[in-house]
Amino acid sequence: MAAAIAPATSLRLKPISAIRFLSVYTRPNRGKLTISPKSLTTFFRPLVLRHTYTRPFLSPVSLVHRRRSFCTLVSAGDLSPGEDAEKARTEPAETQSVGEGEKVREFRKRLRINDIKGGPDEGLDRLGQTLVVKGWVRTTRVQSTVTFIEVNDGSCVSNMQCVMSPDAEGYDEVKSGLITTGASVCVQGIIVPSQGSKQKVEMNVRKIDMVGKSDPSYPIQKKRASREFLRIQAHLRPRTNTFGAIARVRNALAYATHKFFQENGFVWISSPIITASDCEGAGEQFCATTLIPSSHEATDSRVDAIPQTKEGLIDWTQDFFGKRASLTVSGQLNAETYATALTDVYTFGPTFRAENSNTSRHLAEFWMIEPELAFADLNDDMACATAYLQYVVKYILENCKEDMDFFNTWIEKGIINRLSDVVEKDFLQLTYTDAIKLLLKANKKFEFPVKWGCDLQSEHERYITEQAFGGRPLIIRDYPKEIKAFYMRQNDDEKTVAAMDLLVPRVGELIGGSQREERLEYLEARLDDLKLDKESYWWYLDLRRYGSVPHAGFGLGFERLVQFATGIDNIRDAIPFPRTPGSAEF
Ligand code: 4AD
Ligand code: MG
Repeated sequence: MAAAIAPATSLRLKPISAIRFLSVYTRPNRGKLTISPKSLTTFFRPLVLRHTYTRPFLSPVSLVHRRRSFCTLVSAGDLSPGEDAEKARTEPAETQSVGEGEKVREFRKRLRINDIKGGPDEGLDRLGQTLVVKGWVRTTRVQSTVTFIEVNDGSCVSNMQCVMSPDAEGYDEVKSGLITTGASVCVQGIIVPSQGSKQKVEMNVRKIDMVGKSDPSYPIQKKRASREFLRIQAHLRPRTNTFGAIARVRNALAYATHKFFQENGFVWISSPIITASDCEGAGEQFCATTLIPSSHEATDSRVDAIPQTKEGLIDWTQDFFGKRASLTVSGQLNAETYATALTDVYTFGPTFRAENSNTSRHLAEFWMIEPELAFADLNDDMACATAYLQYVVKYILENCKEDMDFFNTWIEKGIINRLSDVVEKDFLQLTYTDAIKLLLKANKKFEFPVKWGCDLQSEHERYITEQAFGGRPLIIRDYPKEIKAFYMRQNDDEKTVAAMDLLVPRVGELIGGSQREERLEYLEARLDDLKLDKESYWWYLDLRRYGSVPHAGFGLGFERLVQFATGIDNIRDAIPFPRTPGSAEF
């Protein structure tokens, strides 16, 4: 046997010929020590920990004292890395007692199908290795001499094709029909070149264990299920290719979002979910109250049990917060308080809107990303929105290749080219006034008539991006103040505000933002004009009293970004569990 000494690092290293050595040892003498492999095993035997996996190393070797967390001693025989890694995860490690308790085992990244097949060699670099795959059966195909079982573990679109002959351990379960679509399995086998053209490698099964069988009523069988059907199976739809891919790309977009803002010096702020102010002033809030009892017995209680004032109105002073409170429609106002202290901040959290919009772009619960920049104007805001959008789109094109190819083939042909254009081409801006002129000139009959002062409808936005600007994202700015929120900065023309909406093909408005009104007197006048309760915005007004600065920000609807980036038509398929009017299942 040879010995090896190395830090415990990656799980994906080359096989080890004999024992591997890491360190939970302390040498009396801290100097260098040269030892032979044999003496190593003898000398350190009491300290051998079986669960660690490491790199082969030449011997004899020089040992230096290492930190305990960094090294461990293993004996791995002739196992291949995947199997080794698997053992490390599944076998109970010898634990060290510390007082009465036992040390929690070390965490290790699992070996997933994507780790095996997702690299540039598509698995050919692992030929001959014995590995373990755990996942859910997509299909089984029984032939006279072999059975094909497609297993997916959610790490990628690709399945592991597991090829099983009757002499493999666990074949009984296959024969008795227990390994069906939807069942969870643990398969051990050797990676071999695939006979089929769909993949480079497959697994020659040595052993299969059924972890959980699947009832024959499993609703997601091989035939393609409609999106509508899958929405009522939202608890099982992540097991389909489409929803697995959407979940991974959504995750990558969230990661890239944090990465972009963190790399650019922004601080992430948690804005509250329960709030007593209405950011958009549009009255589309869900009430958060305990006045209406929520326990089962109380559900049957009478309407007149709700406390009332002498005038017969609801007495909010008796509510949980002593006043009326709601779920937030936007974290912006809170973000402004932190931007006017930390300069650049962003929020990323859920927001709620009780608007009765049954469209493919509206949810009652959606996630929003809201950066807020101090010492910034509308031009800075647009530059940030553009750079952010280009960054996250580039990130998924580079890091979610298999999923993006899947969308390109099955969901929206040409999406990769469309998104590559977004990354490469400059974004354009246009004033609202010019956009109206363009719509009036359009040789098209719109359902909603166009005139200066009207709010742009989805059909107008889509015409502008998809036809007038040939599928490019476009920013429209300087909207009439009457159709925008109270906090937007009034332009010198006194008719428009420094607002901007970023429009993209298919989705329409992806981002809405503005420069904020930083002048106290203007803001107070606007609140009065709109008959909003100035008292409840006292803290927001304070930001204009104490060291006010020009500042700007925007909100991006995360599910609309997922729609845009995956090509999925309906926003209900861009979030795991959609909440829409009349629907809050799961
Ligand atoms: O344009 P909105 O209403 O802007 C705000 O809430 C600002 N406070 C943002 C800010 O300046 N910090 O919403 C911002 C974005 C929209 O552009 C849209 O992408 C998304 O949020 N959005 C919705 N997404 C899904 N379902 C809904 N009901 C949405 N309403 C808005
Ligand atoms: Mg908007």
